Amino acid sequence: MNAEPSSGASLRFRPPVSTDGPAVTALISRCPPLDRNSAYCNLIQCTHFADQCVIAELGDRIVGWVSGHRPASDPRAFFVWQVAVAAEGRGKGLASQMIKSLLTRSAQHDVTHLITTITDGNKASWALFRGLARDWGAELERSALFEREAHFAGAYPTEYQARIGPLTFSKIQKAQG
Ligand SMILES: CC(C)(COP(=O)(O)OP(=O)(O)OC[C@H]1O[C@@H](n2cnc3c(N)ncnc32)[C@H](O)[C@@H]1OP(=O)(O)O)[C@@H](O)C(=O)NCCC(=O)NCCS
Repeated sequence: MNAEPSSGASLRFRPPVSTDGPAVTALISRCPPLDRNSAYCNLIQCTHFADQCVIAELGDRIVGWVSGHRPASDPRAFFVWQVAVAAEGRGKGLASQMIKSLLTRSAQHDVTHLITTITDGNKASWALFRGLARDWGAELERSALFEREAHFAGAYPTEYQARIGPLTFSKIQKAQG
């Protein structure tokens, strides 16, 4: 797939800075079914977790965002929290390329697996992460993590954990081409 735009405007991936916070919050609000987090949450991601977050910019517009972190309880993992691509940018490999760009940063040199959570009905998200596992030649294991009744008091559907691995930095770089 190719995320290069046909408009001629240049597409680039970069770590966020604090002043990106409002645009990130606005992009997420246009990407259901993503939860709308607080503006403050996005500011913390853009600052404390800038090494694990990426912005895709087309010209001067933010068209993509991935937030993540390295869980303290599982330090060799990379957790993908939210992936948001503006409607006009979808279906061009942008989400996949943003995640690959995060995993090829030096801050992620020791990652052995990627984890995320996905609801059963989010077909696009399952396709995205199955595609990454395929491109990296790794397995994707699925298991219920946060359950509707036990963890969401019935208010939200169960979030299944997708765990992709084993990964090595060189394997990911090689798949990047
Ligand atoms: C999910 C989302 C991030 C995908 O972004 P994208 O840039 O269009 O995804 P990509 O083009 O990188 O596609 C990655 C894979 O998913 C597949 N895919 C993308 N959208 C799909 C859809 N709506 N239905 C089925 N498959 C889909 C692609 O075909 C591709 O598969 P392949 O590698 O086998 O060809 C985007 O649709 C979005 O922002 N949705 C709303 C928010 C959301 O649900 N986020 C994910 C939860 S964290």
